Parts: sequence; C-alpha cells; structure tokens
Amino acid sequence: MELKIFKNPEEIGEACGKLYADYINSNPRCVLGLATGATPLPTYKCLSRMCGEGKVSFKDVSTFNLDEYCDIPKTHKNSFYTFMCENLFSKTDINMDNVDFLDGNADPQEESERYAKAILDKGGIDIQLLGIGRNGHIAFNEPADSFSDEAYKVKLTDSTIEANSIYFDDIPMPRYAVTMGIGSIMRAKKIILIATGKSKAGAVLDMTEGPVTPRCPASILQQHSDAVIFLDEDAASLLR
Ligand code: F6R
Repeated sequence: MELKIFKNPEEIGEACGKLYADYINSNPRCVLGLATGATPLPTYKCLSRMCGEGKVSFKDVSTFNLDEYCDIPKTHKNSFYTFMCENLFSKTDINMDNVDFLDGNADPQEESERYAKAILDKGGIDIQLLGIGRNGHIAFNEPADSFSDEAYKVKLTDSTIEANSIYFDDIPMPRYAVTMGIGSIMRAKKIILIATGKSKAGAVLDMTEGPVTPRCPASILQQHSDAVIFLDEDAASLLR
C-alpha cells in the first residue's frame, strides 16, 4: 500500500477530488465505489465544485455505495442514500439510473446476490473510496474472526454506534446495517482510503504496520495491489 500524508482534511479533499476528476475524465464510463461519513466530504465538495465549473462530468459514471442502515426508509434524512444525494449526486450531472445502493430493508441474502450481480454486470468497481472506523472497520465490516466476502447484514458494534449516533436526533440509531463484504471491496481495481483526525491514528497504525487480521479489517488492504492511503498529519501521528 502507498501512503500519502497531507497537512489537513481540506488538502486531502482537493488532492482526492482532482484524482477522481482525472480518473473520470480518462474513463467517462467508469464505475465508482463510494463511501459516506465525514471523511469524504471535502472530496465530494471538490468534485461538486469541479463539476459545476465544467471540469468533470458524471453523466456516464456508475456508482455503488458501500453500505446502508437497516430498518429506516431509504429516504430518511439519516440514510446513506440521502447523504449521497445531498453531498454529491444533487451537485453533479450524474444520471440517477446509474446509482445503485444496498437496500437495508430487503432480504439480506437476495440483496447480496443482486448487488454482486449488478456490480459484475457493470464490469466491476474501478475505483473504491473508503474511510476507516476507529476500530479499523471498512464499510461496516466490523472486527471479526474471519474476513467476509460478498455483502451481508451486520450488527454494528458499540464503537460504531457511539461514533455515528450523533447524527440521529429524532430516532435511535439503527443497530444493523447492510455492507459490502471485504471480498467485494478487495475486487475493486483501485482503492483510495482516506483517514483524518487523531481519533483514527490507532486504526491507521494497525492497518498499515500491524498484522493482516480480521480483528482490524482495514489491514487486508496491505494485500491489495493498488491501494493508496491518504492521511492527514493527525491520522499519521502514530506511524513509525
Ligand atoms: C461509510 C463507511 C464507514 C466510514 C467510517 C468512517 O460508508 O463505510 O466505514 O467510512 O465509519 O466514518 P467517518 O468518515 O464519519 O469518520
């Protein structure tokens, strides 16, 4: 894995936004794997701006998101679908017919098979964007005894519930989510993981310098042939 260290999240947002814009400009029909959360916001902001300026177009791009909560409607204000609409899709010229999401309210097995097939039908994910949880999770693959493969329904850990419940002010945060599995993530041709802030420094250390273990799901990226890790100085502060 290749590490790139920047001063702050804004610098990462500009660098990643430009990297994505260049990628889309040279592969206008590419397939993007996308993430939600606070981490990718500066990147989405940069991409939205560049799209507004006519420097990149999403009109032929297809997207698959990593995960979605169970037990809330797709259009709930805290769903990941709503997050993506508000922070990227509505600010670009993307064709919403090319946007695919895991359905947190469908039968998990059938939905997993549908998503795997949909990704395959598009030729696989070209470039997958990831954040990382404080416990080393990627997507909602929480620390476990083995690495998962395709999408599945997961019970969220206390650490994840604590980190994300700040966004839920009207209903309790869902306890379950559907997530792409580690196998589906690792099959992406290129992976970009962004980590910012001191709270991620321990997970970043385990991911990059620790053993490859499902106890730190992100550590599997050590085995990907084209994984680039964008860190700010705080997230990189424990690296040796
Ligand atoms: C979100 C996702 C999660 C987040 C992670 C970090 O789609 O898959 O793995 O990337 O929980 O979240 P933030 O960026 O909010 O710190």
